[in-house]
Amino acid sequence: MKKVLWFLSLGISCVCVILFSAYSGMRICETHTALADYVGNFSGNIDNIQKKGAGKQSFSFVVIGDTRKGYEIFEHGIRRINKINPDFVMHLGDFVEKAKKHHYDFFIGELKEMMIKVPMFFVAGNHDVFVYPRHDVNRKYFKRKLGNFQFHFVYGNSLFIGMDNSELNPFNEEQLVWLKDILEKNRTVEHKFIFMHTPPINLNIKKKSSGEYKKDFNRDDPAFRNTIKGYGIDCVFVSHFHGYMEKKVDGVNYLVTGGGGAPLDAGGYHFVIVNVDGQKVDHKVVNMRKIWVFEDRFELMMHTTVYDFIDENKILTVILLIFSSLIIIKSVRDYIKRAR
Ligand SMILES: [Fe+2]
Repeated sequence: MKKVLWFLSLGISCVCVILFSAYSGMRICETHTALADYVGNFSGNIDNIQKKGAGKQSFSFVVIGDTRKGYEIFEHGIRRINKINPDFVMHLGDFVEKAKKHHYDFFIGELKEMMIKVPMFFVAGNHDVFVYPRHDVNRKYFKRKLGNFQFHFVYGNSLFIGMDNSELNPFNEEQLVWLKDILEKNRTVEHKFIFMHTPPINLNIKKKSSGEYKKDFNRDDPAFRNTIKGYGIDCVFVSHFHGYMEKKVDGVNYLVTGGGGAPLDAGGYHFVIVNVDGQKVDHKVVNMRKIWVFEDRFELMMHTTVYDFIDENKILTVILLIFSSLIIIKSVRDYIKRAR
């Protein structure tokens, strides 16, 4: 009898998991198709933010990086950002764990549910473009869901430039020509801020012995540093390292902020608020609590792991469903036979 009940439970569990994750996956795909029209790097949003900032000498913006699977922490951050009500938010990348359709769908759905009330822009991180474990580059999800990889706009008295070094390589010549052209055309703009995911300077991280780990954090990009020389850059904001750090290289401030929710390398979870007031620029670190909600984790797992598997292995799932149903039928028949 014990054996019958065990098989019955196994069969029912398999069917429930498959059906629930399929339902959850389809619900997210159907209901979360697009973000608010002020979220993302689409040309319309860039035009709108530039118009909104015209003539402003005093404003604030928030920078947050590396949120990945830490949706509860990210959500807590968005609630606080909504209260602070900055002019806009810059996300420094690594907002999904894997650059796959269902990871992007889940992220877009969650971001929509968080109801960010101010414009939000994104630079891509390595997790947002690599399809693990194959590591081949897949950029179509970012482009479709969040717009252009590189962008720039003038907001009031400040220039903002978002750049793409998500593939963990130094910037190529085309990118540096693009950057120089923007800096040249906006030479007279009072403040200049650049945003990217991977640090273009050596952070001197010696924490782990893995060569990859060291290389990613301690990669110097002298061509980038030379390109921005002489333009009076106020700050280059970077992420990838899950912690907080400030460095000055060639007289330029580099602010590393990657404490948005991904597992930490150092320090605590946080985001940064930057205040621009005429000639003055200052920033403040806002700490966030570590939060872990079972229900959210369960939903994340169901969608990005189980439903992802189901969607990629439809035939195998149907076979599994039939097999589980047969187990249930056989178990019920055995149970009835024994009961008689
Ligand atoms: Fe990263």
